[in-house]
Amino acid sequence: PAERAALKDKIRRLLREKNAVMVSHYYVHPDLQDLAEETGGLVSDSLEMARFGRDHTAQTLVVSGVRFMGETAKILSPEKRVLMPDLDATCSLDLGCPVDEFSAFCDAHPDRTVVVYANTSAAVKARADWLVTSSCALEIVSALKDKGHKILWAPDRHLGGYIQRETGADMLMWGGSCIVHDEFKAFELKALMKEHPAARVLVHPESPADVVALADAVGSTSAILKAAHEMEAQEFIVATDSGMMHKLRTLNPGKLFLEAPTAGNSATCKSCAHCPWMAMNCLADVARVLETGANEVHVDPALGLRARIPIDRMLAFTA
Ligand code: 13P
Ligand code: SF4
Repeated sequence: PAERAALKDKIRRLLREKNAVMVSHYYVHPDLQDLAEETGGLVSDSLEMARFGRDHTAQTLVVSGVRFMGETAKILSPEKRVLMPDLDATCSLDLGCPVDEFSAFCDAHPDRTVVVYANTSAAVKARADWLVTSSCALEIVSALKDKGHKILWAPDRHLGGYIQRETGADMLMWGGSCIVHDEFKAFELKALMKEHPAARVLVHPESPADVVALADAVGSTSAILKAAHEMEAQEFIVATDSGMMHKLRTLNPGKLFLEAPTAGNSATCKSCAHCPWMAMNCLADVARVLETGANEVHVDPALGLRARIPIDRMLAFTA
């Protein structure tokens, strides 16, 4: 604890000295979430992280999350220095959608509007017409459908399937998935619901369809927080990364939050639903990158300009 307190003090000082601000995702360690908020930064979902980084006056952004979040920040603010605690923190959706194969897929379907999830590389974004995050995907696809667009969707098949079921849009789908949300299990969830009949079920749409079907509320990390706050219930079962529990519990002190079961849940593995790449972010590395300037995110400027088009469309749509 003494070492953690010292590291936090050091980070607070370095943020001031370097004219820097911290932006953290809800899935990173609680220390990194609290420190971001306490120092005038932000803890939020991937959509609001992007917007905040773009609009803040600080010249250095420290992005605690995964690679695509740092890249999006850099694309939106090429003049700023974007640092990440660990540049190897990636995402199974990004890894599962290599740009060459994705480009060939797009080339084979030129009649379709390309809608890409934020959890992708800058190169994949540069092939897209629209970018979406889980908090605006439904509205954006719905608006495109109303205008008669046929969609090419990548990479998350569960989120894509959910949107297709909700909107009835014509969507051709890439086959990626999130290794964390893909693990939630409907059979075990039903058993937990029986044990807690008063509990409401909150599900991130990167989860499989049979898990989504059991939800009282489906939505992004921000939507889950909102639902937990607004619903009358005192008990909730939550199907998303366990990093979310920190914010859910601190904002709703009287309420009980249970983790939804995954294949790996057992007496010895309480937090199987935790992203290994989000877990790579730590206080020591935040202090180190601020001190040394290491782990700067670079995006090729020409690629960044092209990738910015779908991101700007999304930000304007959700403004
Ligand atoms: P958001 O709900 O924050 O967009 O989460 C998506 C995600 O899984 C980030 O890794
Ligand atoms: Fe990617 Fe899933 Fe980790 Fe989010 S939780 S970064 S979608 S692997």
